[in-house]
Amino acid sequence: MTILPIPAPVIEILGLYKDYQTPVGPFPVLKEVNLIIHAGEFVAIMGPSGSGKSTFMNILGCLDRPTSGAYVLEGQDVAQMDKDATARLRGQALGFVFQGFNLLPRMSLEDNVALPLVYCGIPKEERRRHARTLLAKVGLEDYAASLPNRISGGQQHRVAIARALVNTPRLILADEPTGNLDSHTSEEIMQLFSALNREGITIVLVTHEPDIALHAERQVRFLDGRIVHDAPTHASTHHFAASGTVC
Ligand SMILES: Nc1ncnc2c1ncn2[C@@H]1O[C@H](COP(=O)(O)OP(=O)(O)OP(=O)(O)O)[C@@H](O)[C@H]1O
Ligand SMILES: [Mg+2]
Repeated sequence: MTILPIPAPVIEILGLYKDYQTPVGPFPVLKEVNLIIHAGEFVAIMGPSGSGKSTFMNILGCLDRPTSGAYVLEGQDVAQMDKDATARLRGQALGFVFQGFNLLPRMSLEDNVALPLVYCGIPKEERRRHARTLLAKVGLEDYAASLPNRISGGQQHRVAIARALVNTPRLILADEPTGNLDSHTSEEIMQLFSALNREGITIVLVTHEPDIALHAERQVRFLDGRIVHDAPTHASTHHFAASGTVC
């Protein structure tokens, strides 16, 4: 049996609620959600359509705020941070792959990938060079100058992943990164996430598909805005111990 020290929590969610305001009053979506994710974990978030997965991911990505409850990201209480500090933390720590990719249609792939760096004050040529390196990493080096509508859906997914990597994030949040892909392309995308996780990047990924979730080491299931299941994908021989003793 291998004994590992406890890694630091990257994400701590405590008693979190999220209501959307609608014309007919508040609409509760997340209810009493608690979750801790440690550095280096690979977590699949599952659950039926409408169960609150994207709402939860948007909060993890600091794109939205909880109605109540705490979100501590890398030791910092997000609720206590102003807009600038949140944007800085997002820019330094997070890569987000959106459910619909959000690629800008009139921009070349390399400019799409380089976009998050515009806000970091990095010169244009350097941004493009870095973007081309990442496009090569996802197997799209020959398409750097293409527009998004000239490549396939699977290739667009890979561009979205390259863009999420551009700021060398410690945490990647991916909302349905294999949605609508054939099984071969999905497998390629998941191999890419697994390789990034082996490099030490923490990954939280939403999927509907049990086969895809098998790539993660932990599965969390939402139902009607609550976590109803949280368990390792496979029984592990690794046990975390606080003081080096076997637990
Ligand atoms: N901006 C909004 N205003 C009001 N209601 C919303 C808003 N965004 C989402 N909802 C509602 O909140 C619920 C959860 O939506 P969410 O997008 O988080 O679900 P999901 O689990 O990601 O679903 P899917 O698997 O279809 O992507 C749904 O009932 C949805 O209609
Ligand atoms: Mg969703």
